[in-house]
Amino acid sequence: MRRIPLQLGLAMAGVTFLSLIVAVSVALAADPAPKPVAGISNVMNAVNHTEHGLFGMIKGFCDKGGGDASLWKLMRHRAQIVAESGNTLMAQSPPRGADDEAGTKKWKQHCADFRDAGKKLSKALALKKADKASAAIKLVEAQCEACHKDHKSN
Ligand code: HEC
Repeated sequence: MRRIPLQLGLAMAGVTFLSLIVAVSVALAADPAPKPVAGISNVMNAVNHTEHGLFGMIKGFCDKGGGDASLWKLMRHRAQIVAESGNTLMAQSPPRGADDEAGTKKWKQHCADFRDAGKKLSKALALKKADKASAAIKLVEAQCEACHKDHKSN
């Protein structure tokens, strides 16, 4: 039996190894985006609700003039999740007003505007001044209303 020369053997091993890496990369790239768990009404009730949601907790805190530093920090964590929920909403379809391309574009823009208002709220909370935070809260609320006007069912 003829033996395979060492150099050829090494080259073959190298090619096999490279093909393996390529195959794994292709498999990983083909991995689909994770399926969303939370729907629109989960976000509205748990994150946005003006009483029970994270946004409502921030609003209540600012309405009573704020609190100690650790609470201001907690409110910022909450505002970051309010902002993040704009991204979560982007993957959803609303019950009204997004049946065609223009409508979908409008929905995504509302989601992005809401996310950006949430980010501004987070920045305002870093100042630990209730009046500045309340002004940022009003901007978030304007986004709630703008989106509801176009996409909420009732
Ligand atoms: C990007 C669009 C959008 C933004 C921004 C938005 N909402 Fe909504 N909201 C909706 C839609 C769409 C529904 C209706 C959901 C449905 O019927 O399935 C809804 C429903 C609701 C509901 C009713 C939920 C229920 O269980 O019936 C509440 C309360 C609510 N929103 C509060 C808010 C508040 C407060 C804000 C701002 C802090 C806000 N929303 C921001 C789109 C939005």
